[in-house]
Amino acid sequence: MAKIAYIGVGNMGRAMILRLLKAGHQITAYNRTPEKAKVVQDAGAKLAKTPAEAVEGADVVFSSVLNDDASRQAWTGPQGILAGKLRPNTLVAECSTLSHDWVMELGGLVKAKGLRYVDCPVAGRPDAAEAGELRVYIGGAKEDLEELRPYIEPFSKKIWHFGPVGAGTAYKLIYNLMGVIQVASVAEAMVQCEAAGIDLHAAAEAFTLGYTGSKHVAHHAETMAEGKRGQAIGFSGKGRLKDSQYGVQFVKKLGRQARVGEAASDVFNQMVEVGMGDANDSELIDALRAIARKRERR
Ligand SMILES: NC(=O)c1ccc[n+]([C@@H]2O[C@H](COP(=O)([O-])OP(=O)(O)OC[C@H]3O[C@@H](n4cnc5c(N)ncnc54)[C@H](OP(=O)(O)O)[C@@H]3O)[C@@H](O)[C@H]2O)c1
Repeated sequence: MAKIAYIGVGNMGRAMILRLLKAGHQITAYNRTPEKAKVVQDAGAKLAKTPAEAVEGADVVFSSVLNDDASRQAWTGPQGILAGKLRPNTLVAECSTLSHDWVMELGGLVKAKGLRYVDCPVAGRPDAAEAGELRVYIGGAKEDLEELRPYIEPFSKKIWHFGPVGAGTAYKLIYNLMGVIQVASVAEAMVQCEAAGIDLHAAAEAFTLGYTGSKHVAHHAETMAEGKRGQAIGFSGKGRLKDSQYGVQFVKKLGRQARVGEAASDVFNQMVEVGMGDANDSELIDALRAIARKRERR
């Protein structure tokens, strides 16, 4: 069994750590807000005060934090992962969804330290992580993936190797942009149905059974029709905005257009602007209702 350091005990990190503990690994975890890591401590993980302390002597390092700023802090801060005592050639993997530019820079910094970097973004909500059913998109050397595979498998049901470092993030950003577009479109369609006097439960069922019925549409249309609020957040509005911004930025770097992605990003930007950035992404419907009411009052 391996000594694994895990940086970031958010919704995803917590679920992935619980799976790794169940698989019998020794985990040392770090979270910026230590109280939020208590649940993994109760399950058997050790807690460290800094990322550098967490990674000391680790066989493998994983990180899952919110965005580029958080990842930069976790890896390159004065007490960050790269300041820790790691054996040469140790495998380190980022599971967060980050910008392609930062992932490429991070891959270079890791290599310069004599360590091996694997780009390891994941897809699936926290409940999928807890069930060991994430989809994982790898960028890195094939032999590094094979060495890392036994530590990814406890939280995943399928692993794709897309190419060298950065390729996992490239795919993940394009995939997420498609997801953001679907969530934004279902929220818009549901408020359009509401304005047209169509019952939302019937609409959600018909969207789900129609050609529109992707997993995103099925999940979000039902959640919106049910009016579920305040349940444990799977993913936030500001998280969707971040994903869409990184996605659009990457597509532009490729010299291609992302007009539908930009429109969806704008919709989530509106959600953040009305003060709902921390709400569940399904609550986008409430942000759109609030915007419509404001327009009507004008
Ligand atoms: N949730 C999903 O459905 C999902 C699915 C696939 C991928 N992802 C990706 O997985 C990553 C984590 O998502 P999540 O849902 O676990 O997010 P989350 O629950 O909001 O947790 C975010 C984590 O990042 C840490 N963090 C935030 N800002 C920081 C900073 N400036 N310095 C250090 N740590 C910081 C938080 O620490 P504190 O506890 O101290 O705030 C927390 O550990 C994100 O990149 C997300 O895009 C999420």
